[in-house]
Amino acid sequence: MTPDRYVVRAGPPLSGTVQVSGMTKNAGLKQMAAALLAPGETILNNLTPVDDLAVMIELLEAIGVEITSNGESSLCLRVPDQLTPKAPYELVSRMRASINVLGPLLARTGQAQVALPGGDDIGSRKLNLHFYGLEALGVDLRVEHGLIEASCRELRGARVVLEYPSVGATETIMTTAVLAKGESVIENAAREPEICDLIKFLNLLGAKISGAGSSTLVIEGVETLAPTEHTIIGDRIEAGTLMMAVAAAGGDVTIGGISLSDLEMVGRKLSELGVEVTETEEGIRTRRSDRLTACDVQTLPFPGFATDFMPLIVAVLATANGTAIVTENIFEHRFAFVDELQRMGADVRAEGRHAVVRGVPQLSGAPVRALDVRAGAALVLAGLTATGETTVLDPHHAERGYADLAGQLRNLGADVERLG
Ligand code: EPU
Repeated sequence: MTPDRYVVRAGPPLSGTVQVSGMTKNAGLKQMAAALLAPGETILNNLTPVDDLAVMIELLEAIGVEITSNGESSLCLRVPDQLTPKAPYELVSRMRASINVLGPLLARTGQAQVALPGGDDIGSRKLNLHFYGLEALGVDLRVEHGLIEASCRELRGARVVLEYPSVGATETIMTTAVLAKGESVIENAAREPEICDLIKFLNLLGAKISGAGSSTLVIEGVETLAPTEHTIIGDRIEAGTLMMAVAAAGGDVTIGGISLSDLEMVGRKLSELGVEVTETEEGIRTRRSDRLTACDVQTLPFPGFATDFMPLIVAVLATANGTAIVTENIFEHRFAFVDELQRMGADVRAEGRHAVVRGVPQLSGAPVRALDVRAGAALVLAGLTATGETTVLDPHHAERGYADLAGQLRNLGADVERLG
C-alpha cells in the first residue's frame, strides 16, 4: 500500500486569485463548543471541512448536541436543555480545541469531566492559566487519572490577571464568565482575531462582552443565552501560508476574503525580505520576483508575528540570501521540523528557542515527514523551490488545519499532488 503523501515539484511562479477558507480550526471549533451555552438551534456558516471538524462534531454529539449539515460549509447545532457534561479521552486526546467545552459545560451544568486535551506536539501546553481563571470564578478543580474534574455551586464574576495572554485561557474564562453573577474583567487577555470573532458570536448569543481586540475584556454576566446564526471569519493562517508560498516560489497572487490588518506583521516581515505586499480591492496582493534577503524573526502573541507562521518563514528563509536568527517565544518544541528541512539541504541549526538559518541557493527534493500542522505546510512550500521531487509523508497533520492545501496551490499553478 502506498502511504498518504504530498508530492511536490518546483514549477513556474505562482499566479492567480484565491478566496480564503473559513477559519475552522482556531475559530469555528471554539464557537461550536461555545454554542453549548445556548439551548436551541444555532447555525454556524463558513466552516471548512478540515479533519478536526469531524472530531468536534463527535465530541459535541457525545455531550448531547444534534448536528446536521445546513448546506455547504454550514452546520446546525441543536443544543438540548440537558447536557451530558463529560468529554471522553478518545475524542479529547485527538484535538487541542476540545478543552473549549470545559467553560460552557461548567456555566450550563455546574460540573464537567473533561479528559486532558491532545493536539500537536509542539510544547508542554499547560492549562494552569485556564484553571487559575476558573478558580477565581468559583470553580473547584481536580486533575486525576488524566481527567479534569470541575464543579461549582455558583459562578461569581471576578478580576483575572493573566500572566501571559493565552488564547485558550482567554476563551475558557470568557465562555464561563458570560453566565456568572456580576462583572468579570480579564486583564492581559489574548487579542487574536479569532478571540474577537468568538466575542462577536457570544454577544450574538446575548452575552455582554466589551473590549474585543484590546488586552482588557469586561464581561457582564447574564442569566441565559439564546441561539443565533453566525459566519466564521476567514482563515488568516491559510492566507499567510499562501503569502509565504509566493515568497518561497515567486509569483503574483491575490488572496480575497481577508484583511491585511489581520496579517500586518506577516506583511511587514515579507516586505523586509523583499516581497511586495499590498492591500487591493480584491484582497491582499503578494508579489515576488528577485531572490530574498534574510531578516530576523521572533514570534509573539498577536499583533506580533504568530508562532503558526514560524515553520513557514523558516522554509522561506532557507533559500534567502544571508543569515537569519529565528526566535520562537511561544512553544518550546516547535523547531523539531528543521531536521526534516535539513534533509532537503537547508542549512538550519536550532538550539532551544533559537534557530540560525543560513540561506542556500537551492534546496533539493527528498522524502520528509510532517510533524505538525504548520510544519507539514512548511515542507510543502520548501518542495516548491527544490530540485527534483519532494514527498511529504503524514499529510494528516497538515489536514487538521488545511482542507485542501495541494488543491489551492495547484490552482495557483504549483505542481503539488495529494496522493494515497
Ligand atoms: N500556556 C500556559 N498556561 C496555560 C495556557 C497556555 O503556560 O494555561 C502557555 C502554553 O504552554 C504556550 C503559550 O502559553 O507556551 C501559548 O498558549 P495559548 O494558550 O496561547 O495557545 P493555545 O490556545 O494552546 C492556540 C492555537 C494554536 C496557536 C496558539 C497561539 C488553537 C486550537 N490553537 O493554541 O494553533 O499557535 O493559540 O496563537 O486555537 C496552529 O494552528 O498551528 C496552532 C498550534
